[in-house]
Amino acid sequence: MCGIIGYIGTKRARDILLTGLKRMEYRGYDSAGIATIEEDKVVSTRSVGNVSGLVEILKSKTHKGMAGIGHTRWATHGAPSEANAHPHTSGKVTLVHNGIFENYQEYKTALEQAGRKFHSQTDSEVLAALIDFEYENEINPRIAITNALKKVRGTFGLAILFEDQPDMIAVARRSSPLLIAKNGSAVFIASDQYALAGHASNATVLQDDEIAICRADNFEVFSMNDYPVGKEILKITASEESIGKDGYEHFMQKEIFEQPQSIQRTLSGRINKPLGTSQLGGINLTPKQLRGVKSMIFVGCGTAYYAGLLAKYLLEPIVKIPISVEVASEFRYRSVALNGNELSVVISQSGETADTIACVEELQLKGIPVLGVVNVVGSSIARLVDGGIYLHAGPEISVASTKAFSSQVTALLLLGIYLARQRDLNLGDGQELLEQLEALPKIIEEVLKIEKEIKVAARKFAKLPHLMALGRDLLYPVSLEIVLKIKELTYIPASAYPAGEMKHGPNALLSPEMGVIYLHGEGPLSEKSVSNLAEVRARKAQLLIFTDTEIDASKDEIVIKLPKSSHFAQGIIFTVAGQLLAYHMAIALDRNVDKPRNLAKSVTVE
Ligand code: M6R
Repeated sequence: MCGIIGYIGTKRARDILLTGLKRMEYRGYDSAGIATIEEDKVVSTRSVGNVSGLVEILKSKTHKGMAGIGHTRWATHGAPSEANAHPHTSGKVTLVHNGIFENYQEYKTALEQAGRKFHSQTDSEVLAALIDFEYENEINPRIAITNALKKVRGTFGLAILFEDQPDMIAVARRSSPLLIAKNGSAVFIASDQYALAGHASNATVLQDDEIAICRADNFEVFSMNDYPVGKEILKITASEESIGKDGYEHFMQKEIFEQPQSIQRTLSGRINKPLGTSQLGGINLTPKQLRGVKSMIFVGCGTAYYAGLLAKYLLEPIVKIPISVEVASEFRYRSVALNGNELSVVISQSGETADTIACVEELQLKGIPVLGVVNVVGSSIARLVDGGIYLHAGPEISVASTKAFSSQVTALLLLGIYLARQRDLNLGDGQELLEQLEALPKIIEEVLKIEKEIKVAARKFAKLPHLMALGRDLLYPVSLEIVLKIKELTYIPASAYPAGEMKHGPNALLSPEMGVIYLHGEGPLSEKSVSNLAEVRARKAQLLIFTDTEIDASKDEIVIKLPKSSHFAQGIIFTVAGQLLAYHMAIALDRNVDKPRNLAKSVTVE
């Protein structure tokens, strides 16, 4: 989603801004731009498409200024176009904006009546005009910004230049992340810590309704009520190396192959074998409080939601309390029946997903403790929750989430073992489950070895017009996650069903044009799964079967054998195979693997 970068110092801002924009490309965007202060005027360059296109245009433009702002835009108000790209200028004000100015129309109309002209369809240009309007009557730019922002309903991360204030950049935030870092005689501003990698080792996290005035040698943070405020420091863990591709063709491929190590990091230091339980330092709830938990609510979006769903299947039988799994965009508005004895767990790779953040606030308002299962250290969710488990999966750059999923499931299982051991689970069974987790990295390595076989199947299935994934029991949530990967990467219409549900409607879709990815796993429902498979065969759909057990198949069917694994590992193993399938289908179709169309890595708007 949209990215902000800013620089003020002793070097030319242009190249620093462009490097920052490139680092944020993974978030997904449709246009980009920069603006720098050149003596007493601001020069902007914007373009539709990727940052390389902007670089080309900049070859014939001069940007000498040592203060500037840049932006990658993901269209919300107005289609992707040069006019709608940021920065936006109105009068003396030029700004870049992440977020949504919900009541912009009201001010647009009023400003038009006052004689202002608008050149884009964006809410952000209206915000620039509103700040400029306030600046006409208020000499202090910070107060002018405050006056304008007090009128705004919605969210913002802002970096603002004033034409007649060449030695400063103002920034402001409400529900949209912004970091400020000082290094020697320069100050960097970014909405994403990856853009700061290599520039600074610590950053100040701007809080909601705070405004900072940045100059080359320092910056000051104020609240909107006009008093200086305390600053929260974030250690920048991303390094320039950690955001490289390490010789892989795509970030997605790198991240799939990293899973043995990323899971290892999620587990590291969290297994207490002698006591047959997990040790989770950041839960911030006493054993007594946890013992009082009567049910759990897992909340997330997309892949994070499916990680929660898989964990529910695995944990309910051992923790023996009800677990509900909720899609954040629905849960935040629903009247939910709660009894006050719940423990909620929000799951988010980025820690910045707007709908998930809203659920944290909603749950806390209702007095329900909220734990975060989050990857990005210091992200908004990580700071809001009452406690949590960091994934430590490392930066996930590809829009399609892969290693975050396996680490999310692993972290939830660690939490589940902890709760189960407080209840009925005995020492031996606790130790046995921990061993299943410890074995995960090795067994994932086995799946990764069959990449070539999966690639052959992917080439065939990439040619089909419709796809379906079917599974039973814990392989049902896995089928949903695999289909999400296929949809976002290949753009082929695809759906997922519990295999036993087919005869209640979806069987009507089966024909020789339909490709069915059938997940057949060893387990209590194995025989029933064979019968469901026979129903698919009878309708002559094209079959790709992933299985970890023996199965008879005809020569027209593709069968890919997966390693036998434990109950806890099975879902992750099948998912990794599905990730490879989706990845190779995307390659076969020549899709933009790491940045699929219409999608952003971190969805910071509703
Ligand atoms: O950062 P989050 O985990 O909160 O993101 C949630 C979803 O937006 C994300 O998982 C999305 O569904 C992925 N693109 C799926 O691959």
